[in-house]
Amino acid sequence: MTRHILAIDQGTTSSRAIVFDGDMKIVAVGQEEFTQHYPASGWVEHDPEDIWTTVVSTVKTALEKAGLAAGDIAAIGITNQRETVVVWDKATGEPIHNAIVWQDRRTAPLCARLKKKRLEPKFTKKTGLLLDPYFSGTKIAWLLDKVKGARARAERGELLAGTIDSFVIWRLTGGAVHATDATNASRTLVYNIADNCWDDELLEILGIPAAMLPTVKNCADDFGTARADLFGTEIPIRGVAGDQQAATIGQACFEPGMMKSTYGTGCFALLNTGADMVRSKNRLLTTIAYRLDGRTTYALEGSIFIAGAAVQWLRDGLKIIEKADETGKLAEQADPTQQVYVVPAFVGLGAPHWDADARGAIFGLTRNSGPAELARAVLESVAYQTRDLLQAMRKDWKAGASQTVLRVDGGMVASDWTMQCLADILDAAVDRPQILETTALGAAWLAGSQVGAWPNAQAFADTWAIERRFEPRMDASIRKRKIRGWTDAVKRTLSR
Ligand code: G3P
Repeated sequence: MTRHILAIDQGTTSSRAIVFDGDMKIVAVGQEEFTQHYPASGWVEHDPEDIWTTVVSTVKTALEKAGLAAGDIAAIGITNQRETVVVWDKATGEPIHNAIVWQDRRTAPLCARLKKKRLEPKFTKKTGLLLDPYFSGTKIAWLLDKVKGARARAERGELLAGTIDSFVIWRLTGGAVHATDATNASRTLVYNIADNCWDDELLEILGIPAAMLPTVKNCADDFGTARADLFGTEIPIRGVAGDQQAATIGQACFEPGMMKSTYGTGCFALLNTGADMVRSKNRLLTTIAYRLDGRTTYALEGSIFIAGAAVQWLRDGLKIIEKADETGKLAEQADPTQQVYVVPAFVGLGAPHWDADARGAIFGLTRNSGPAELARAVLESVAYQTRDLLQAMRKDWKAGASQTVLRVDGGMVASDWTMQCLADILDAAVDRPQILETTALGAAWLAGSQVGAWPNAQAFADTWAIERRFEPRMDASIRKRKIRGWTDAVKRTLSR
């Protein structure tokens, strides 16, 4: 039997397909970026057809590069940008509107109205989330309200709604399967994470017909088969998880107290809390880390909207670097006596502030401040924001989070300077694994273990290997001064 697994990683800025061999090693990668649409201030959309065509073509590229045919793949695992939603016609598969992306802020007024009605505690109790435009529910409500005729069509049962995984599964299976997994469902604002079901009361508040929504499955489960006419032969789809949860799995954070932080467009830190649904008192999210064999494992999550995106801003907006990987080198040249802070609230601030109206700010500029100081301030902002999350986690879950070592992944972690800075600001060890493709690996493991081609969780965890541990070495008084400056900068950036 073949033991090759194909991971589809449908991310915010690109679609990727990664072929792994039976030893869980990467054989080939296909990757394509697609257009981001910004139709109004704070709005972010994707064309679902771009998502679909890039998924199909990257799979073909990866298979071709690997020299494999579809029949050589034991199963597909899907991972995806979370919260982003598509509503499409059940008969034709045609989307009724562009996908509304997780970063999109258009439903801030709706969230504010719901908060005014004092509904946030109800949503938080049932979903573990907050009333922020980040999550899918208010985005679906917006589509039903604003796209002409959508509500009537939805009520007649003609439309389907889902996160990107559902849309891709529906297209791959030729409309045969409308399904999602528990992790993606847990980001929608209408999924009850304690009872593990769509919540009728919340659906009613947001005016979303339950019939539009996908069936919620375990992360390793039967999600149907990709049509033969797409890749040559049918391929079973056997694993699905939102990208941050897939990274948690790929980092083998299977034990309570284990934590990973992924530095992509944004930064998302997830702390495994086991079977305990730890309720945050510090504005973190309670979310599903994974559900395997009907058993749910929960996590505390801190979500930062801008991390790598701030480096992109240095490159594309300010044009002070040509390539993202120059940032660490430039930061190293910064004048240590300057105290420049960048608060990258480009799309508001996520955890623990949840301020949709805040916008980015720079503090502490002098006549001598230049590209190096800005580069350092941007990289440091990622470390400070991670620290804010870790502090909140420690307050929320004293028993589990105090001794946590952070496992990191994502594009930014290749920079030694950034990782040292992170360990220094956190005053905690930071572990960089040998395999940095943890998101794809997590999705592949779900599918591979489900079809019996890959090892079980324990054996998989045993294969996790460290490349380098970064220990804190910053003087405590310097750390204290820097953190004080950051806290002050954030206070001055908040909109209220
Ligand atoms: O919650 C949003 C997150 O899933 C997006 O991740 O890696 O596509 O920026 P990424």
